[in-house]
Amino acid sequence: VVKSDFKGKKVLITMGPTQEALDPVRYISNHSSGKMGVALANAFLSRGAEVFVVSGPISLKVNKSNFHWQDVKSAKEMFEVASKIHNQMDICVFAAAVADYAPAEIAPEKIKKSDTKLSISLVKNVDIAAKLGSNKKQNQVHIGFALETENEAENAQSKLAKKNFDMIVLNSMKESGAGFQVDTNKVHIFHASGFAVQSEVESKNKIAALIIDQIKNIPVWV
Ligand code: PMT
Repeated sequence: VVKSDFKGKKVLITMGPTQEALDPVRYISNHSSGKMGVALANAFLSRGAEVFVVSGPISLKVNKSNFHWQDVKSAKEMFEVASKIHNQMDICVFAAAVADYAPAEIAPEKIKKSDTKLSISLVKNVDIAAKLGSNKKQNQVHIGFALETENEAENAQSKLAKKNFDMIVLNSMKESGAGFQVDTNKVHIFHASGFAVQSEVESKNKIAALIIDQIKNIPVWV
């Protein structure tokens, strides 16, 4: 059955890691593969939505021509691209693993090896979800992710409130078959209304469908 329940809806998805340059050859990043984000993009597409992707560097095979696809590297670039289109979106899903900090300065030349300790000064990056969340339009839906290693539910619910999400998808680093890199995920979805659902370990495609189904429980959607 082809569903077109999201026809006419514009969806922004941030995905992948960000890379924060230290010098022309090195960067700080994380293990996000983009698999969860791509699964969401494909699932929204198959349900009729127009999908706008802002992706950090990933190496998955994906038919970018199905989407309005923009590649970025740093958190700053991801924010700039996402904030330009945010206002036109009906749904925003923040699936990217954005680096919270970036080097205070990008060295113009390759940093030389020295015999002594090397310290790097980091500055806080813009919180894309929080910043766009403070500009959320009426009837716009914002969905966040939380990747936690401890106090999972508590941390996820505090991010839900702080970033003005309608729904947050918690994936735990403690669960096997969940989180970074793998083809599966296990999630706990918290709604701002207090309603919550949990999944088993399922393919990221199935998890994407579950997340999209849950959007229909968000009051502004009904
Ligand atoms: O890409 P995969 O390998 O498939 O892995 C999927 C995933 C684990 C990366 C994904 O499912 C996920 O959990 N993404 C969010 C990871 C994360 O950075 O979580 P967080 O708890 O640090 O951030 C909370 C939320 O704020 C997220 O929606 C994040 O996108 C957003 N955020 C965070 C920091 C920042 N500077 N800007 C943001 O927008």
